[in-house]
Amino acid sequence: MKHPQEPLDESRQGEALLLNPEQGSGKKLYLESYGCQMNFSDSEIVASLLAESGFSTTRNLYESDVILLNTCAIRENAEQRVRTRLRELQHLKKAKPTLVVGVLGCMAERLKDKFLEEEKLVDLVAGPDAYRALPALIAEVESGQKAVNVLLSLEETYADVSPVRLTGNGISAFISIMRGCDNMCSFCVVPFTRGRERSRDPKSILQEARDLFAAGYREVTLLGQNVDSYLFYGGGPKKEFKALSPEEQSLAVNFAKLLRMVADISPQLRIRFTTSNPGDMTDAVLESMAAYPNICKYIHLPVQSGSTTVLDRMNRGYSREQYLDRIAAIRRILPDCAISTDIITGFCGETEEDHQETLSLMQEVGYDYAYMFEYSERPKTMAARKFKDDVPAETKNRRLKEIIALQTQWSKLRNEQELGLEVDVLVEGLSKKSDQDLFGRTSQYKVVVFPKKHYKAGDYVRVKIQSCTSATLLGNSID
Ligand code: 5AD
Ligand code: SF4
Repeated sequence: MKHPQEPLDESRQGEALLLNPEQGSGKKLYLESYGCQMNFSDSEIVASLLAESGFSTTRNLYESDVILLNTCAIRENAEQRVRTRLRELQHLKKAKPTLVVGVLGCMAERLKDKFLEEEKLVDLVAGPDAYRALPALIAEVESGQKAVNVLLSLEETYADVSPVRLTGNGISAFISIMRGCDNMCSFCVVPFTRGRERSRDPKSILQEARDLFAAGYREVTLLGQNVDSYLFYGGGPKKEFKALSPEEQSLAVNFAKLLRMVADISPQLRIRFTTSNPGDMTDAVLESMAAYPNICKYIHLPVQSGSTTVLDRMNRGYSREQYLDRIAAIRRILPDCAISTDIITGFCGETEEDHQETLSLMQEVGYDYAYMFEYSERPKTMAARKFKDDVPAETKNRRLKEIIALQTQWSKLRNEQELGLEVDVLVEGLSKKSDQDLFGRTSQYKVVVFPKKHYKAGDYVRVKIQSCTSATLLGNSID
């Protein structure tokens, strides 16, 4: 199961996004994306902005004039992949000196000088808020200079840019509703790479969702680093609701309201969102979900650790008990809601006792899925400055194995609980294993495979679940 922040189709990691090859008369762009869904969404904005200035895209590296890598910095290994890729690209540059190689996204901010000067691997660096400047930056490189723009903005949301939907299945699309993050979790690099939190105008979000529905899409996922703190009151940097003027307050749209506005577009349009934050998720959001059958009953609620001491050091802003209170609220208001989480093992100072508390919390919640990582120190973060990365690699790894083993049991159990039930599946396409079968998802985000019959992508199909593998439910449609 993919992390909800990652793109749905793994094969797209690192693959070029393809604009209509017939479009545009000018230079050829090869665009490769790494990391989370937010990055893939951004690549669709980049493709749209560059198409406007006459670029066409290509999947063929060798015929490209400009190569852009949209990068991720969340863990050390994500950065390593990009560095390796940049070295691989060097031979192309030798063969074609006019080739422009650029780095976009989350590694841009931190590695700007290193890339340009020390390693001489790239000509251009553009941070996540600088994409409107890309045509000018490319022109600068062509005139013989190196070009950098890593300025982070308090306002940029690319609200007016209509993303080019490049590689999706035509059924399910992502809509970015906010950018940046103000949470300052001590392990996390995102506030440094993506800047301050800002919310996008709901009017442009609704327009994008309506356009997608009209084009045949049946599911939208609202994307943000912390969707629960979405708040729009006329633009500009984030303020607390209390700090707004009476006029701003009357116009304000929070996440609970935004969900209802998007869900009102059509009962045939499914709404998902990611990522929720345990410190900010209100009952009002859960009540919006309960009120609309088309808002999917699935919440990704990263806990990171089951120990309050570790959570404090992580600066997460909630205790174990407060997290469990949110789980209780979900179970009370949305009894059929699936829940997944993120967990980090071996954070600075994590004791064996802390680790046991994570295991016991997992046991208490019984997650449908979990995405589990070993802690990886990131430069500039509060943890890198204040704490020692003191849990030995073998211990991190052993603890990771233990939580994975426990989660595997729970995922299996949660799937087995679906046996014999009837579920509504939104069909996304043909099953990877057989063209006689379709696959789709339930409201709870579970993958279901069933015989195709006369159904097709975009249909809602009632399916009775008959068996399951570790990751997939298998069933038959009820006609
Ligand atoms: N080390 C390990 N995992 C991390 N994550 C974020 N930063 C780090 C880090 N420095 C994980 C968190 C987050 C998910 C997207 O990635 O669990 O929720
Ligand atoms: Fe996405 Fe975070 Fe990676 Fe940036 S650092 S691409 S926001 S996961």
